[in-house]
Amino acid sequence: MSLRLGDTVPDFTAETTEGPIRFHEWLGSSWGVLFSHPKDFTPVCTTELGSVARLKPEFDKRDVKVIGLSVDPLTNHAQWAADIEETQGSALNFPLIADSDRAVATLYDMIHPNASETATVRSVFVIGPDKKLKLSLTYPASTGRNFEEILRIIDSLQLTAKHSVATPADWKQGEDVIIVPSVSDEAAKEKFPGGWKTLKPYLRIVPQPGKGA
Ligand code: BEZ
Repeated sequence: MSLRLGDTVPDFTAETTEGPIRFHEWLGSSWGVLFSHPKDFTPVCTTELGSVARLKPEFDKRDVKVIGLSVDPLTNHAQWAADIEETQGSALNFPLIADSDRAVATLYDMIHPNASETATVRSVFVIGPDKKLKLSLTYPASTGRNFEEILRIIDSLQLTAKHSVATPADWKQGEDVIIVPSVSDEAAKEKFPGGWKTLKPYLRIVPQPGKGA
């Protein structure tokens, strides 16, 4: 059964390029991104891992721990890391799980047999500090993911968690946001003393709280 939004994500132990971990303990009180790639020493995966390595400071800024996974063994991960550093301009600076027995891939339903019987698809799981699933994405092997978009999603999730606002289509950091429908006008007066614009009773626009903070 696949994971659904709001589910507590399964805990597991695994071998990684940074030593053995117990997942929930490793996450601690941080947000988390667990993502899988199909195979080491393949072109799209190499660019993706390079992208995450370059963006690591942006994940750190948001208190997000990132961890990759494939069913390749640790020895392959270690050799491939040298290729990533050589070709992508950044060393591998986050752990990679070696899920050779597919235990984690099975727990998280990362193997989709119609895509591949043996390898994980490109899954992304964004996990909140409460260990609940906030977002999942599945991409095919042929399409490299946009990790700037994952950061944008995390910005939106963290704004919602902190300020009871939602983000509109194509929203970018710093742009106006939407007061969530569960906040009444009365409660909104407290939360947003600077006021808001009502386009419809259900569509209330407010400057992004905490902007520039
Ligand atoms: C790639 O990363 O380029 C790739 C991996 C598996 C299948 C197809 C492409």
